[in-house]
Amino acid sequence: MDIEFKSIDLGEALALCVKFRRDTHKISYGNLATYNEEEVVNWFHRNKAENDQGFKHIFVNGKIAGQLEFRSPIKEDEVTFGYIYLIYLAGMFRNKGVGKLAQEYMFDQFKVDGCSEARLRYIPGNVVAEPFYLYTGWEKSGEVGPRGQLLVRKLA
Ligand SMILES: CC(C)(COP(=O)(O)OP(=O)(O)OC[C@H]1O[C@@H](n2cnc3c(N)ncnc32)[C@H](O)[C@@H]1OP(=O)(O)O)[C@@H](O)C(=O)NCCC(=O)NCCS
Repeated sequence: MDIEFKSIDLGEALALCVKFRRDTHKISYGNLATYNEEEVVNWFHRNKAENDQGFKHIFVNGKIAGQLEFRSPIKEDEVTFGYIYLIYLAGMFRNKGVGKLAQEYMFDQFKVDGCSEARLRYIPGNVVAEPFYLYTGWEKSGEVGPRGQLLVRKLA
């Protein structure tokens, strides 16, 4: 399997970015009641301008397969960590090991940036993502809050 992570040209790929985010929202919440497209589009433009290295499309054997949004390093209370905002694969690319490789790609970047751990939040109703995270070594931290459940993954 040939996997590539490529910088996103929003001029060309904005509609695709929106489609992937919209699908993730639906999987996470079960519906689109709280989905706000204007906020999503603003977030993409901000991410592109301020954090281009953490905004990538995933290609598998030359085909667009998904999207990553992440940032590092972040320093808080003496801990340096990388944060994953989004890991998304289109349906036909799931359960083939691509998610695991995409995580490793981000973890490598976090380690280069001196991070000791990775963090993310997910909505506990997301039955696609939860088993994947727990299987790949993430641990729950604290209670579920308005933005979901915080997970932490120590980086060796
Ligand atoms: C969550 C997601 C990124 C996982 O990626 P993936 O490519 O499907 O997962 P992988 O195939 O790399 O799985 C890695 C390992 O986790 C295991 N795993 C994945 N999903 C699992 C499940 N539902 N139950 C049990 N194990 C699971 C796999 O068996 C695999 O184990 P192996 O390495 O021993 O073979 C992907 O399914 C996805 O994009 N989902 C939709 C978007 C989404 O919900 N994103 C998260 C928002 S918080």
